Amino acid sequence: MLTVKDSVAVITGGSGGIGKTLAEYWLEQGGKVVIADVQEEALQKTKEELESISPDVALMKCDVTNEQDNTHLAEFAIERFGAINLVAPFAGITGDGLFLKTDKETGKVVGKMSLEKFQKVIDINLTGVFLTVRECVEQMINNGDKGLICLVSSTGSLGTAGQINYSSTKAAMSVMPKVLTAEFFRRNIADKIRCMAVAPGYVGTAMVKNMDERVIDKIVEQVPIGRLVEPEEVVSLVAELYKNEAMAGETVFIHGGLRLGSKG
Ligand SMILES: NC(=O)c1ccc[n+]([C@@H]2O[C@H](COP(=O)([O-])OP(=O)(O)OC[C@H]3O[C@@H](n4cnc5c(N)ncnc54)[C@H](O)[C@@H]3O)[C@@H](O)[C@H]2O)c1
Repeated sequence: MLTVKDSVAVITGGSGGIGKTLAEYWLEQGGKVVIADVQEEALQKTKEELESISPDVALMKCDVTNEQDNTHLAEFAIERFGAINLVAPFAGITGDGLFLKTDKETGKVVGKMSLEKFQKVIDINLTGVFLTVRECVEQMINNGDKGLICLVSSTGSLGTAGQINYSSTKAAMSVMPKVLTAEFFRRNIADKIRCMAVAPGYVGTAMVKNMDERVIDKIVEQVPIGRLVEPEEVVSLVAELYKNEAMAGETVFIHGGLRLGSKG
């Protein structure tokens, strides 16, 4: 079993939501944290808040779609804290819309999801994660560090209407642990660097709370536990996956029993 105390977490999307909650937990347990986000002001504010828990927190402005930003982030974590043990590439966005929109009366196509809308989500949620993980794992291997790459998939990975872009990226997140674990196994490092994904349902962060209240009510109707999942509950799962070294190459759902209807 690994312990959080003195370990170093690199968290993208760390200025808010699940990433910030993870940073709080890590610091409370005696770990060290590098938070990265594209929103500079929010990042600075979060760092100040986190410093009330522990001084072992550093920030780096990082656009995860930028290759160099990711290289700098990974190098910075090593320079600042001497290791990387948890990689949590949590930066992510939604960009919902229909693949094709048809007119109710004529049945003809009257709209399409733009390439821009599709690509933006792919760039951040998929390419961004690829870059963050690649750069951090390079540093981990060269530095001889032990730890976990913890990706965030989603129940959207099962296919949600109106989310062709988001669902595709989250399906990718649930296959990546298998690919990376197989590659690490071939290179005899799978006992040191593991990869897992958590797949939350609807979590009470800005990503969901910014939705129309009626839409949230409809969502909650489908959740057997009768409420949104709390970010703390997702973080508790991430912590268990980090500590428990038997967990490798899998995706674990955490959704309160969510039932996706026949219409997704
Ligand atoms: N909230 C949910 O219901 C839910 C469910 C399943 C999965 N997830 C996933 O969990 C992760 C965190 O989501 P959250 O709910 O905390 O969302 P959030 O919106 O609260 O936080 C996401 C963070 O990512 C940052 N970000 C966006 N683009 C970026 C970029 N290019 N570079 C760096 N940072 C960038 C944002 O500034 C924000 O701080 C996401 O990957 C999301 O898809 C969330």
